[in-house]
Amino acid sequence: MNDIWNSPDKFNREASKWDENPQRRALALSVSQAIITTIKPEKNMNALEFGCGTGLVTLEIAPLVKKISAVDTSIEMLAVLQDKINASGITNIETRSLNLSSSSESDFPEKSFDLIYSSMTLHHIDDTAGFLNRISILLSPGGILTIADLDLEDGMFHDDPLEKVHHGFERRELAALFYDAGLQALSFETIYTINKTNRSGATAAYPVFLSVASRLSV
Ligand SMILES: C[S@@+](CC[C@H](N)C(=O)[O-])C[C@H]1O[C@@H](n2cnc3c(N)ncnc32)[C@H](O)[C@@H]1O
Repeated sequence: MNDIWNSPDKFNREASKWDENPQRRALALSVSQAIITTIKPEKNMNALEFGCGTGLVTLEIAPLVKKISAVDTSIEMLAVLQDKINASGITNIETRSLNLSSSSESDFPEKSFDLIYSSMTLHHIDDTAGFLNRISILLSPGGILTIADLDLEDGMFHDDPLEKVHHGFERRELAALFYDAGLQALSFETIYTINKTNRSGATAAYPVFLSVASRLSV
């Protein structure tokens, strides 16, 4: 059981079997396809994924951009991704063990990235507003932030009742947090629905949105 925000232990334990879940792979593929269709990544882009896990999304984006910094707090998730990178000979993904929600850890210079993306990680980060501020300044003016995550859910999605997570996000509230962080919300689109038997034993549908925002010029 886990009673703190962002304990890497859970993800370290799950890393070696993470990709075996077919729904997880299908979700990641839908997120990747939605990012590619909506953002149209370009070869001159420097990109960052926060909460990259085993790289299910990043490996789809990598051929389309110049460079990706793939960041996660779980060294075991990163190790799985690094094994895939080594096996495939991909040269434009750099893995980093980093907690971007901690002011003491992020050493990326301001305006480092043209594109920041993430899938199913924001709900694991306690201070959403503070975190969005922190990553917003990493975007170049006009740079794009795109985040896939759960719509507001019934609180039953995660199997461990003690795990500290946000129970999804209300789209208008997230758009307001984007704005407060110097980002303009451009779109929210439902891109996938997770059908899951939740911890109450009921089968429920959990929609996943892709949000897109751009960094206002400063
Ligand atoms: C639900 S998993 C999603 C992994 C991957 N994006 C995918 O779709 O398969 C959430 C990931 O976010 C990572 N994570 C949680 N909090 C984080 C933080 N503050 N900074 C970076 N990574 C974090 C976890 O270690 C985990 O790998």
